[in-house]
Amino acid sequence: MAKQTRSFTCSACGAAHTRWAGKCDACGGWNTIVEEAPLSAGPKPTAKGRTIPISDLATEEAPPPRASSGIGELDRVLGGGLVPASAILVGGDPGIGKSTLLLQATASFARNGLKCLYISGEEAAAQVRMRAQRLGLAQAPVGLGAETNLRDILTTLDAERPDLAVIDSIQTMWLDNVESAPGSVSQVRAAAHELVTFAKRRGVAVVIVGHVTKEGAIAGPRVLEHMVDTVLYFEGERGHQFRILRAVKNRFGPADEIGVFEMTGDGLSEVLNPSALFLSDREAATPGSAVFAGIEGTRPVLTEIQALVAPSNLGTPRRTVVGLDSGRLSTILAVLEARCGIPFAGLDVFLNVAGGMKVTEPAADLAVAAALLSAREDVAIPPDMVLFGEISLSGALRPVGQTENRLKEAAKLGFSQATLPARSKSGQAEGMRLREMADLTAFVGEMFGA
Ligand code: TYD
Ligand code: MG
Repeated sequence: MAKQTRSFTCSACGAAHTRWAGKCDACGGWNTIVEEAPLSAGPKPTAKGRTIPISDLATEEAPPPRASSGIGELDRVLGGGLVPASAILVGGDPGIGKSTLLLQATASFARNGLKCLYISGEEAAAQVRMRAQRLGLAQAPVGLGAETNLRDILTTLDAERPDLAVIDSIQTMWLDNVESAPGSVSQVRAAAHELVTFAKRRGVAVVIVGHVTKEGAIAGPRVLEHMVDTVLYFEGERGHQFRILRAVKNRFGPADEIGVFEMTGDGLSEVLNPSALFLSDREAATPGSAVFAGIEGTRPVLTEIQALVAPSNLGTPRRTVVGLDSGRLSTILAVLEARCGIPFAGLDVFLNVAGGMKVTEPAADLAVAAALLSAREDVAIPPDMVLFGEISLSGALRPVGQTENRLKEAAKLGFSQATLPARSKSGQAEGMRLREMADLTAFVGEMFGA
């Protein structure tokens, strides 16, 4: 009989190790390596695997159409609706609203004629029903289940054959042939594997809910990302009512697409015009505020970037960033100092994207620089101006993609001037005054007269 080998896995990044160690070499996490239950030796491999020429596949029927949920923001993030037999992972911090979103989504799919099951491992059926009542969905034709034994769940799914099954959450599920606690890497991975295999074999779309923690302490969705077709993250800042559903991987549609929701007293409601919402609290002509015309996925979104610059009494001045990459801020500060001769030494810098939005595009550089300069010089940027453009280390402004879309969105929201890199392909921008700038020095000269 073959010797059983022990195997170890990092619960944060999923890397395999041959022995236990205090620190994972792959991700640098401490105390994240756990032993996995040994896999039982399977039967000898046979030559049964069959291949089909790709040309034969083309003659098969067209794939079944996507199902629409009727929630536009969700459909777009999915790439145009739910693909039958797909496996979708929805990750997010505990309490962010995953269960609420999925209950609303299943009710919506059910109303559109899909047979839907919602299996909760975290709440009793009565609690799920109470939530449904609060959301005004008590009459929705959704099958509810409260169960954590995956074997039982799969048996039920096999008998009922729904079009869509939601498993909330994967951390509460357990398989009887895996000898570790629910939530451990081996359980989470084995359970997800069973669900994904079931989805493909039986043609049931499966949504797996997974909690992430900042430390990645429990086996998080990261371990599962490569197993599923689509990975969506539900994010938002505590204290803000906005929630953003972001596709980070999608085999059936564009990644980086976002859907914007607002958490209200009776559930999540769609935000159809995020730009108007993110700009709604803006005070006119305040120093330190700049409006960035960004692109999220396929859609332009305008956000306000706010900066505060104040004398520091610390040896190393503070650099506090919310919603942007702090490395990017350091680079922009360094470029302003080295190329434009504007130092920020001895000054605390606070940078914030309004509304709890996260901005990852390099195109935000110019708006960030503008907000910083405006705060430092105490000169407001014209309230009807949007900005975008990438700043290179030489201080030059680089054109960015989708200039025309950015300008159109800005015009639609009543902005009448835009500062952008020279040589941008701006196309027809009706009613917009364009200020094209070759580099940051030209921008500083024109805006702040330095
Ligand atoms: P929930 O969906 O349970 O989060 P998750 O499944 O991601 O852990 O959401 C919980 C939070 O949402 C909770 O703080 C209460 C709030 N909430 C509302 O504000 N309005 C609502 O209608 C509902 C159902 C929840
Ligand atoms: Mg939940």
